[in-house]
Order: sequence, then C-alpha cells, then structure tokens
Amino acid sequence: MVPVHYIESGAGTPLVLLHAFPVDARMWNPLRGRLEEQVRIIAPDQRGLGESSLDGSTARGMLDPKTAPLTADRPSVDVAAADILELLDQLELPRVVLGGCSMGGYVATAVLRAAPQRVAGLLMVDTKAPADTDEQRANRLGVATRAEQEGTSGWLADTMLPNLLGESTRRQRPEVVEELRALIEAQPADGVAWAQRAMAARPDSVETLRAFSGPSMVVVGAEDTITPPSAAREMAEVLPRGELVEMAGSGHLPSLEVPDALADAVLPWLASLDV
Ligand code: MLT
Repeated sequence: MVPVHYIESGAGTPLVLLHAFPVDARMWNPLRGRLEEQVRIIAPDQRGLGESSLDGSTARGMLDPKTAPLTADRPSVDVAAADILELLDQLELPRVVLGGCSMGGYVATAVLRAAPQRVAGLLMVDTKAPADTDEQRANRLGVATRAEQEGTSGWLADTMLPNLLGESTRRQRPEVVEELRALIEAQPADGVAWAQRAMAARPDSVETLRAFSGPSMVVVGAEDTITPPSAAREMAEVLPRGELVEMAGSGHLPSLEVPDALADAVLPWLASLDV
C-alpha cells in the first residue's frame, strides 16, 4: 500500500473526491469555498500523481533509494481503490460519500466493488461504466510509453486540453485553460503511465453500479465529448437510485469550469443523505 497525500478542508458530511486524469486533487479546489460549511472534503492524490508517490513515500522527493521498493504495484484501479480504503481506515471513517470525476469515477467504482458498505452515497462526475474498447486500450498504452520516453511537458496538455474543457470554457475562460495546463504539466511521467495502464486494465462496471442500492448522483457537462451526456444517462439508468444532472456550459471538468453550478447541484443532495 502507498500512503496517499490528500487535501482536506471543511466540517460535516465526509465527502471523498477522486480526481480525473491527468491532474490531481487540486482540481476540486474551486468547489471548496461553497462546500466547506456543510461538508468535510477529503481529496486524495492518486498514487503517482500530485504529491503521492508511486512507490511508498507520501511526499515526492523524500523517497530513500536504499529502502524504497524496486517496483510499484501493478497498475490497476483496484490497487488505487485499496489506497483509498486504507486512507479511510487511517482517518477512522467507516462510511463516506464517495465522488469521482472520470478516472476518479473508475476508482470509485472499484471501491464499490471491494467495499460497498463503506459508501453512503455515490457522486459520479463525467465518467462512465463500460470498460475500454481495444482501440482505446491501445491508445492508453501508447500514451503511457510516450510519457515514459518523453516526459509529460507540452504534448500531454496539448493533446488533452481540447477534449477536457468544453467549448464555452475554451472560448471564454483563458484563465481556466491555463490553470488546467499547469495542473497537467505538474504530473510526473511515471504516475501518468501507471494511471493509463490502470485504466486500460479496468473491467466493465455496469453490474457493480446496478448492485449499488445507495443514493447516487450522476453529473455531466453538456459539452463533454470524452464521457458525453449519453454515457451519463446510461449510467444513471443503471444505478437503482441514480439522479442525473446536466451542467450547461461545461465540458469534462465541471469542478474547474462551473464550480458554482456543481455546488448548487450537490449541496442539497448531500444534505438529504444519511451518513
Ligand atoms: C479522465 O478525465 O480521467 C480521463 O479522460 C478518463 C479516461 O481517459 O477515460
């Protein structure tokens, strides 16, 4: 197990928010101001990304090469989910509301598979349930190899930014475009490669979601082209208590693009939960 770094603020209902690829827990920061009075927000960095190392030290740069394990655990969303469950144990939180954006949603589903009793409510933001196609898997493995060979500066943000942000944000909010570019460029190559291989190996999650009887909210940006509204609709239909909310003017990352609208949708739902 890798000790994960996390950003925590606020008090109240414990809400664990898992970030998208290829960014880190800071993607949730714009939401904090609106949620903190009612919610204890815990946002971990997935192993290898942000300030969580891939192989054993919480803070990057503090790894002792004499004692560090030689290889990281196999890339898998189940391994990432086990890190989250260990964090919940460490924080002595038996049950939380679990939220994930895109890759974070894949990991949240893996937590559900491993320990559904720990999930009091599920918030799925711009994510989907099916596994990858062969073509998507091959693309991911190509990105992993390129990250290892070339590092992550420049090309990763250039190729991903147009898809991650909605057209409205790209046209009207250059500061969000720059914020996202900085977040992507801060991600280490080994963590990017690990995350892509983990996502490539993930199983189909439709039946896991169908079996979850707790309250669920599915949020999707109306301009999301990676996990479009049609994928969100399918997921909300599969979840027995799924509620669908579409965010106008947002692409794949509503916490960066339309944080107030996301807070408006999530706060009343959170208040209705029994955690
Ligand atoms: C993400 O935002 O986490 C990624 O776009 C997810 C993916 O590549 O499937």
